[in-house]
Amino acid sequence: MSLGMSSDVRAHLIGLLLGAEEDWPRAFESILRMVGPIQHGGETHSLSSERVRIHPFDLTDPVRHGLVIDRLAYWYYHPREWLKKASLMNDTYLLNSPFTFQAMEKHSAYVAMLRLGMKIPKTVLVPYKNPVDNVRWAYTSARYNDPFDLEAIAEEVGYPLYMKPFDGGGWRGVSRVDNVEQLHTSYDESGNMLMHLQATIDYDHFARALSIGPETMVMDFRPGEPMHSRYAVTHNFLSAQAGWEAETVSKVVNAFFGWEFNSCEMLVRGDDVHPIDYANACPDVALTSLHYYFPWAITALVRWSTYCLVTGRRSFIGVRSPRAYFDIADDPDRTYMEKMRAYRELADSEFDSARYWEWCEQHLPHLPERVLEWVASPEFDKLLVETVRATYPAHEHDQFVAHFRGLTGLWVKDQRNILAAPGA
Ligand SMILES: Nc1ncnc2c1ncn2[C@@H]1O[C@H](COP(=O)(O)OP(=O)(O)OP(=O)(O)O)[C@@H](O)[C@H]1O
Ligand SMILES: [Mg+2]
Repeated sequence: MSLGMSSDVRAHLIGLLLGAEEDWPRAFESILRMVGPIQHGGETHSLSSERVRIHPFDLTDPVRHGLVIDRLAYWYYHPREWLKKASLMNDTYLLNSPFTFQAMEKHSAYVAMLRLGMKIPKTVLVPYKNPVDNVRWAYTSARYNDPFDLEAIAEEVGYPLYMKPFDGGGWRGVSRVDNVEQLHTSYDESGNMLMHLQATIDYDHFARALSIGPETMVMDFRPGEPMHSRYAVTHNFLSAQAGWEAETVSKVVNAFFGWEFNSCEMLVRGDDVHPIDYANACPDVALTSLHYYFPWAITALVRWSTYCLVTGRRSFIGVRSPRAYFDIADDPDRTYMEKMRAYRELADSEFDSARYWEWCEQHLPHLPERVLEWVASPEFDKLLVETVRATYPAHEHDQFVAHFRGLTGLWVKDQRNILAAPGA
């Protein structure tokens, strides 16, 4: 069979490591079918994907996947160990590498970005409320644990404050503490969770940025709303300055930790951007939460995976050295903005940003148009209806089908205008 200029065909296999979700993998599989074959470096490249199966593996078993997108290993450890093996033995490219996110939970992420001079709210880590389950605990704590005054720490952080686990996620153990009674209740309830006390930021906007490789979408997030309407579709909700900064924070966080698929939460007051939660290296990309932004997110996952595989981008295995960032951070002659601009340059170079967009222009110019047709098609509508049916109780189906049809329909309309605009 002839496939264009070259007779060599390099087949790349993308693995999807999944939990309960059906929506985005189906979208990913559909959009990936719109890619390729691609001519690059004198070879023809083809791409396909497969959902990763879980079974015993010999540590020397061959790995067929060139890249794996992971939504499972944060709680299921057998495939997490398989990811590590694939990375170490086979150089499989991982979105994300478990080496990076196991080593860098929320606490480390706070500390590292504080060192870079970012506007992290005042945060204090207090010892466990309950004794650690270890026979040596009684002796050790009697000998070495300093008594401490929880109320004085809370006074210093200031009320209201947030009490939350050092390695949190999904609101587990998070409470807002308004006074000294609630302080004791929350601390007593924390039991064996290790807690931070964190100053509250009174914000004008909650910005949540989803980044996939060099692509970043900063979205207007409303954490108090039910899941289906947390993301508001508001363009330009931040000032130009705060918008740049929010995008930069999320890119720098990702480049620093080696995360390529991550969401970053920032509280924005005036032009000040305060990152509060940015170790989410297994982010939610469900159709029922992202709605309007869903086609962008899945296209970006396809585009970045394709770019990494076809150009032979090497993955970094392990934890990166933060030295280049610290050299900038520790320079007393630079202002906050000068540092942010310098970090952003490092991040853009880490993600090959300029080259990436040129490459997509050259090799995947048809993709936006094809994705648009697909999102407007009955096939996408079927996916939407089936996702709603699988997510909500029967009496809510009609309401939510209409809701998500409205939002994805709005994306189709906006995207048509963008693609029709001169110079698009
Ligand atoms: N310092 C803060 N100032 C104001 N609000 C905060 C602060 N810290 C946390 N919150 C509120 O508490 C929520 C949960 O906090 P956080 O994101 O740190 O926890 P989480 O367990 O990672 O939650 P999720 O998985 O939903 O992101 C935030 O979405 C925000 O609304
Ligand atoms: Mg959060």
